[in-house]
Amino acid sequence: MIRSTVAAIAMLCWASSAMAQADDDGEESRWSIAIHGGAGTIKRDKITPEQDKSIRAALGEALKAGSKVLSDGGSAIDAVTATIMILENDPNFNAGKGAVFTWEKTNELDSSIMDGSDLTAGAVAGINGTKNPILLARAVKDHSPHVMLSGAGANQFSREQGLEQVTPDYYATPYRLQQIEDVLAKKVSVADVDYKFGTVGAVAMDQNGHMAAGTSTGGMTGKRWGRIGDSPIIGAGTYADDRSCAISATGSGEYFIRLGVAHEICARIRMRFPEAIREAQRAVPKDADGNDSYVVHGSEFQLSDAEIQQIADDVIAELGALGGDGGIIYATPWGQAGYSFNTAGMYRGKATSEGDMSVAIYGDE
Ligand code: GLY
Repeated sequence: MIRSTVAAIAMLCWASSAMAQADDDGEESRWSIAIHGGAGTIKRDKITPEQDKSIRAALGEALKAGSKVLSDGGSAIDAVTATIMILENDPNFNAGKGAVFTWEKTNELDSSIMDGSDLTAGAVAGINGTKNPILLARAVKDHSPHVMLSGAGANQFSREQGLEQVTPDYYATPYRLQQIEDVLAKKVSVADVDYKFGTVGAVAMDQNGHMAAGTSTGGMTGKRWGRIGDSPIIGAGTYADDRSCAISATGSGEYFIRLGVAHEICARIRMRFPEAIREAQRAVPKDADGNDSYVVHGSEFQLSDAEIQQIADDVIAELGALGGDGGIIYATPWGQAGYSFNTAGMYRGKATSEGDMSVAIYGDE
């Protein structure tokens, strides 16, 4: 009772059943997942009803796949991998099939993945030939001594790993071809063409409280000179740490790199936690001798939903102040999952073990 009073004073919540002890209490272990398919000036007048329906269905299918891995007791990293593969295979999004074209009318794909349980990570930049870049990022993490591979070397590693290969025309869609033709014909500037960014990503917490994050993208339409955005940069577009959160980003990559957005949010959550425990300790009633009546234990607390959201919103506000557009999805080791973005919309969805499942596109839903 006293402890819950302290928790309330400190604006903290009880760490409910997210941790391993949930099973001891006879409760079902919790899991959560959030996904995105890009953010940008996504407005109702720019999306046809058919596109709206098709994108919601694709997000729903990806969420279902990730949720199944988690509800079956699978790991967060496997859930993230399975979810992103579905989004990469869907031509609605700028990743895998449907990736944007470079200035030279080629595709250069970027992807990364991170396991919050041991801080292992894998990433690839400027690759092609691999059907699912997220599998190549995962192979770098699992089967190489490195974190990031790029270009021809990464493509060679993919073949050596036996990953499914595709011909260059696999990635192409009529929509993306039209976009690059318009850019090359100077009908539209590179800055204007991506009224929405179609990068995909997923973050998850599994039943053991482990976190994972992954991101995959074709980058920016008309990109040149081997340009690489935030998606394959661990700490910018992707980060996961069991002590704080899992983040995947979408938007104008240069700004996400400059701010180190994904790591920045995780670091703020991690640093806020001991501070919050100290606040709780200060609120503990004194005993007859003037000493604290008990020692607050960190495992009993979590940051509140509002605090997590505020930290994410603060970092996205700083991104906006620099001139960056886009957003992030987050999951925490306490089971929270959500979004923060400064664009008109973001293709997004989330699901939890409590049975919540939702997908959304526009900022006002
Ligand atoms: N956020 C994806 C990119 O900038 O490439």
